[in-house]
Amino acid sequence: MSALKNDCLLKSLLKEPTSRTPVWMMRQAGRHLPEYRKLRRQAGDFMSLCRDPELACEIAMQPLLRYKLDGAILFSDILTVPDAMGLGLYFVEGEGPKFRKPLRTERDVESLSVINSKVDLTYVLEAVSLTRKELDGSVPLIGFAGSPWTLAAYMIEGKSSRDFARTKTWLYQHPEILHQLLQKLTLSVVDYLNAQICSGAQVIQIFDTWGGILSDFAYEEFSLAYTREIITNLISRHNDREVPIVLFTKSGGNWLEKIASSGCNAIGLDWTVSLREARRRVGAAVALQGNMDPAVLRSNPESIELEVQRILHSYGSGSGHVFNLGHGITPDIDPRNVAVFVEAVHRYSRD
Ligand code: CP3
Repeated sequence: MSALKNDCLLKSLLKEPTSRTPVWMMRQAGRHLPEYRKLRRQAGDFMSLCRDPELACEIAMQPLLRYKLDGAILFSDILTVPDAMGLGLYFVEGEGPKFRKPLRTERDVESLSVINSKVDLTYVLEAVSLTRKELDGSVPLIGFAGSPWTLAAYMIEGKSSRDFARTKTWLYQHPEILHQLLQKLTLSVVDYLNAQICSGAQVIQIFDTWGGILSDFAYEEFSLAYTREIITNLISRHNDREVPIVLFTKSGGNWLEKIASSGCNAIGLDWTVSLREARRRVGAAVALQGNMDPAVLRSNPESIELEVQRILHSYGSGSGHVFNLGHGITPDIDPRNVAVFVEAVHRYSRD
């Protein structure tokens, strides 16, 4: 393995000092880039891109050719895991993800098998090793998975949802069935993330996109307990290097102390939390990643630069901050504004 030329992302996630604040963006590879849209048109649909390791690698590299980012993220999706469990993932243009066989009964859950990633998700692992090779030590590669709770919510609804009514009905009416599902997902995600690490992923991010729709008690029991179990079972060092783990919980600002106690190295923050406040609460224990509202990127260069400075100032000096957006970049963003954003983090964080 070649040495890493730019390790400021790894260092910041481990709270080690760096000469500036590293930056990457959730959903940095994807629809805001015309070169991505072109490849998707050619391939026909999103899953064909994911299933082709060479195309997935090319797409993961696209944002790095445009912007001075400090990390690359595997091009795939969190829903490849339920797909591998047999639910039949497909995407309808403009409607988001759907499953042909969503979970409807206890029997559906009982008949699910824990995945063996080397067999069931070979295409993802090949994309990881190909992207790692293509990066050639320029920046670290981030692997990822969805949290069991977030995956379960999609598997029960069968699609994106505003209120996750079915999932919450299971939670209160049949908690034991939901726990059985979450346990199978936990074992699957552990297998999947460890396989990504062995294939070359140098950072792991767990997306708990729907953790924030839970009540305080339910968050602990149905989401955090399982992400904690995952973190405990991940390979913590690979090739003589620590593999930092970022836990991103959308709308999790109320639970920072609990999230920090999960064993993660860094907490991903959305824009509803002040970095200063988050650092005061948990900054001694974990690094912080975030948290610019992606909507800022719809404005103009002056406003973007001001917001970057405001966020850097809010964190203050010292190590342990990775600049990111508070959620994924949206498809309507002009790449010129993204370049302004990344440059601004480089320029203003040196001071
Ligand atoms: O740069 C990257 O981050 C690329 C890899 C990546 C994708 N999805 C590609 C993708 C990652 C890390 C994800 C994570 C993901 N997928 C999450 C968690 C992060 C978050 O945004 O909260 C979730 C909830 C999903 C599920 C999912 N996949 C949805 C709801 C959708 C449709 C709506 C949307 O946000 O795009 C997808 C499709 C998807 N995943 C696309 C991409 C590039 C768009 C596909 C297309 O239309 O071309």
